[in-house]
Amino acid sequence: MMDMKTMNMPEKKVDDNVLIEIQDVSKHFKVSEGILKAVNHVNLTIYKGETLGLVGESGCGKSTFGKVLMGIYPATSGKILYHGKKDIEITKKNLFAYSKMAQIIFQDPYSSLDPRMTVGSIIEEGMIIHKMYDKKRRQERVYELLELVGLNREHANRFPHEFSGGQRQRIGIARALAIEPEFIVCDEPISALDVSIQSQIINLLHDLQKKLNLTYLFIAHDLNIVKYISDRIAVMYLGNIVELATSDQLYEKTLHPYSKALLSAVPIPDPDKEASKKRDILGGDVPSPINPPKGCPFASRCPHATEICRQEKPKLEMKQGHLVACHHVKK
Ligand SMILES: Nc1ncnc2c1ncn2[C@@H]1O[C@H](COP(=O)(O)OP(=O)(O)OP(=O)(O)O)[C@@H](O)[C@H]1O
Ligand code: SF4
Ligand SMILES: [Mg+2]
Repeated sequence: MMDMKTMNMPEKKVDDNVLIEIQDVSKHFKVSEGILKAVNHVNLTIYKGETLGLVGESGCGKSTFGKVLMGIYPATSGKILYHGKKDIEITKKNLFAYSKMAQIIFQDPYSSLDPRMTVGSIIEEGMIIHKMYDKKRRQERVYELLELVGLNREHANRFPHEFSGGQRQRIGIARALAIEPEFIVCDEPISALDVSIQSQIINLLHDLQKKLNLTYLFIAHDLNIVKYISDRIAVMYLGNIVELATSDQLYEKTLHPYSKALLSAVPIPDPDKEASKKRDILGGDVPSPINPPKGCPFASRCPHATEICRQEKPKLEMKQGHLVACHHVKK
């Protein structure tokens, strides 16, 4: 991971350090009850070599956002500009070229690997699609990739069901790396794994990032893990980014009431500290992303909400060195 403190963070003009610019991106789904606003006017810059953590409660739009960034879902509105090996806008037309530069690692290592394919052919598939190398070199690459993720070449002829969850996630990582991407969306890559295996996979992702100069969007529920792996962290609520800061800044001086509530829900390992800590239990109903309220999305659960919060949606703006969307956080 690069030292983001040297980069005049958190947001700045496009320069050589920028990999992805996300400009006012929304993703809405038409559902029988109306329009479901899964991702709502997100502006974000992702820098080369960083890990950007994305956290928020279940259903807040993290995976949808990850899929929009992968081009799996077209954005309903807004623009995504990619500045990697090629400079392109992520659109349907550019998807094939883009898919050579960006990959995704899914949460569930069971359903994300085709059970009828050997591990070798799962890893080789992307290289065939992108016409990379001849057959002999692809075979060697499969072996190299298996070793890179801590498996071995004999595993190439086996099938996914012969492997444990952690090993399957390693296969998913090898598959993602096969086409030599620059950017990887890690969508809760460890949450389906045993706790004992989780740190091995995190360490592997961390080592691979350094070795291969990768940029990650790392989606997670668990704030402890995000803190460890992320340079910066974006907090999402009901499809909106409500706070964005470097990992250290976010934990040292949390500004947004929702981020505070999320952080206080993280268990502290020391039992004495846990007992004495004031718990900020999230009260109130989670509003539906279908026809969401017009003011601050967090107003129905926020202990500091006032009339302006219910009337006007706060903008994400720089306050005290963080980007934060709250009427009542001082500049
Ligand atoms: N294809 C779809 N069609 C309709 N609604 C969808 C679709 N995909 C996601 N949604 C809705 O969009 C919202 C965001 O879902 P999403 O899966 O992105 O959340 P998430 O933050 O990844 O949650 P989790 O932490 O549980 O994975 C939810 O209300 C979900 O029901
Ligand atoms: S804008 Fe108001 S409701 Fe929203 S987080 Fe800030 S204080 Fe709470
Ligand atoms: Mg998800």
